[in-house]
Amino acid sequence: MNSNQTYSIEVNNLTKVFGKFTAVNQISFNVRQGEIFGFLGANGAGKSTTIRMLIAILEPTAGDALVGGYSIRREPDLVKKNIGYMSQKFSLYNDLTVAENIRFFASIYGLDGKRYEERKKWVLKVANLENMEQVITGSLPGGIKQRLALGTAVIHEPKIVFLDEPTSGVDPISRRNFWDLINSLSEGGTTVLVTTHYLDEAEFCNDIILINAGKLVAQGNSKALKTNYIKNPILEIESERTVDSLEILEKETWVGETSIFGNYIHVILNDRSITEQQIVQLLQDKNGIAVRRVEKIIPTLEDVFIHLIEKDSKKNVS
Ligand SMILES: Nc1ncnc2c1ncn2[C@@H]1O[C@H](COP(=O)(O)OP(=O)(O)O)[C@@H](O)[C@H]1O
Ligand SMILES: [Mg+2]
Repeated sequence: MNSNQTYSIEVNNLTKVFGKFTAVNQISFNVRQGEIFGFLGANGAGKSTTIRMLIAILEPTAGDALVGGYSIRREPDLVKKNIGYMSQKFSLYNDLTVAENIRFFASIYGLDGKRYEERKKWVLKVANLENMEQVITGSLPGGIKQRLALGTAVIHEPKIVFLDEPTSGVDPISRRNFWDLINSLSEGGTTVLVTTHYLDEAEFCNDIILINAGKLVAQGNSKALKTNYIKNPILEIESERTVDSLEILEKETWVGETSIFGNYIHVILNDRSITEQQIVQLLQDKNGIAVRRVEKIIPTLEDVFIHLIEKDSKKNVS
């Protein structure tokens, strides 16, 4: 029935209610085969709950999804068999050796004989653990452990893999290496759905969705997000006193959302007629703060997300 599908994952109005609390609120999105799909949102936004429904370990309150063509409601066992999953806490046993962890995951997926040997070799290679099979997993550095966790999560070569904050808590170099590994899976045709709260990582994804308080607030590729969601101009301002400048700017009615990036301020203008010169006048002439630079910029993903989340929160309050 689904032999001609163009999407690996199709999510329709997926909803999860815990008691009176709606953790995931009618989310719909599609994931193309072989793409890296970024699932972004702050802590508590509903990312893990969504993933747990998509891998068929948590039953939706409403809605459905097709994962690899199988319904998470009607065919949960087939979903589980056909996907790989790496949980937020990784799924490795710290007190087992590397070899024992690999054997454990291989046995879950029924790998044996030659295929098992081949896949074990592959996992050891991607984790940089060749000749270290007997090392206790708990003693490995975080970055290596993560690669081992991903390796074991895809030991059975699933077409779709779910990674729940796989890079949280590791150093930038390990994160970078981990993304190389994600890329190579995608190049091999595997669909990767990955959650993260690192916005820089969103740039490595083909498509992105952003959720806030259980609701989908934006979707598209990085370029579309930057151009479609913020219509007002954004200025980047570099001054002698960043925090004081921010305080002064925020008092103006023509200033929308603001954010600080190191010693730059980003300001979304509510009023298109405001010029760079007026900013300089306000900070420098009126308040005596030397302004080094004011320029119109293309928004960053962070600007977009701050804008959307603030807009969404205001909507929820009123
Ligand atoms: N089993 C549960 N019972 C009640 N509330 C839950 C349960 N699981 C998650 N939640 C709540 O749902 C919200 C979303 O959680 P989660 O999906 O883990 O967010 P994220 O992964 O984006 O940080 C949170 O407020 C969390 O406390
Ligand atoms: Mg989570």
